[in-house]
Amino acid sequence: MAKIVNSWNDFDPLKHVIVGRADNSVIPNEEPATSEKVPVDSEMRGMWGPRPLETVEKANAQLDNLAKVLEEHGVKVDRPTPLQWNQPVITPDFRTDSMMTCMPPRDVLLTIGSEIIAAPMSFRCRYWEYLAYWPLLSQYFNEDPEFLWSQAPRPRLTDKSYKHNYYDEKISLEERLERTANKDFVTTEEEILFDAADVLRLGKDLFIQHGLTTNRKAMEWFKRKYPDLRIHAVNFPGDPYPIHIDATFVPLRPGLIINNPHRRLPEEQRKIFEANDWEIVDAAMPAHETPPPLCYSSVWLSMNCLVLDHKNVIVEASEHNQLEQMDKLGMNPIPVPFRDAYAFGGALHCATADVYREGGCEDYFP
Ligand code: NVA
Repeated sequence: MAKIVNSWNDFDPLKHVIVGRADNSVIPNEEPATSEKVPVDSEMRGMWGPRPLETVEKANAQLDNLAKVLEEHGVKVDRPTPLQWNQPVITPDFRTDSMMTCMPPRDVLLTIGSEIIAAPMSFRCRYWEYLAYWPLLSQYFNEDPEFLWSQAPRPRLTDKSYKHNYYDEKISLEERLERTANKDFVTTEEEILFDAADVLRLGKDLFIQHGLTTNRKAMEWFKRKYPDLRIHAVNFPGDPYPIHIDATFVPLRPGLIINNPHRRLPEEQRKIFEANDWEIVDAAMPAHETPPPLCYSSVWLSMNCLVLDHKNVIVEASEHNQLEQMDKLGMNPIPVPFRDAYAFGGALHCATADVYREGGCEDYFP
């Protein structure tokens, strides 16, 4: 029996990781709050159905290559077991006509020390997504006597969990930004809702983005679940679609974090970093003006890198500005092509979930 699960941050030496798979991926049909989360000018609006096989194959080729690069750097890689995602989700409270994918494991699985928590996601189409990871978590449970296999309270996702007609298509960008600044989001406080990718882990401190996919009740749940950790709600007023923190605020090593210059952390929330000599650096501009076709995310996937240790970081191969910035910041960037996988749920950090990093629960903000 060995220790298999341990990770307290995104930068200590990575030894074991899960890399997603694009098989059977579906663009889910409309459900409450999906259109609020898809940018108005996105070509994905109104589209749904299985993703074309050719795009799935290209994404899988890049995911397989990422797994290979990780193995070459001494990281053990596990892969989920995709479901047939083109099936309805039916519960006593709702029915929706399809599921989605198991490509962004980071959205679903949150590793805190020796615990992995499956998140209570707010998308109805993602209700069963965690099942793709259950064979792996079952194996970790059998092999690691300290592994805590957890599930956050399952949401019911009735209509009460969403504000209806919250955004119509005519809402201006300024109004959207005003709502982000006022912390007025489409999900309600009816029940605990969060995506794991809204949680930035820095040892004793969790910085959790309050936005379209994570609510205040989730912060309260974290406070009660982890009385020994400090929970900070963070909010980036420049982001009209605040979903997941890892294209906004990305730590590279102790004391250094890159921040999306269009989504700066407000002064009040910067204080804790400044008081502890952390440097917050504006991330380099993305190399692309638009995301790839049928992609949910913005061009800022450029900064969604995967840190292997305090020196080495995997960066998307075409993101030359970000590669150059890593070099200037004293990191060793490892370019890996990944844009064909973006549409399936994100870039290099999104596409992975930590199983084991060396190191323990440090206090970076004493
Ligand atoms: N919602 C973010 C992606 C986070 C990985 C963005 O589109 O920039």
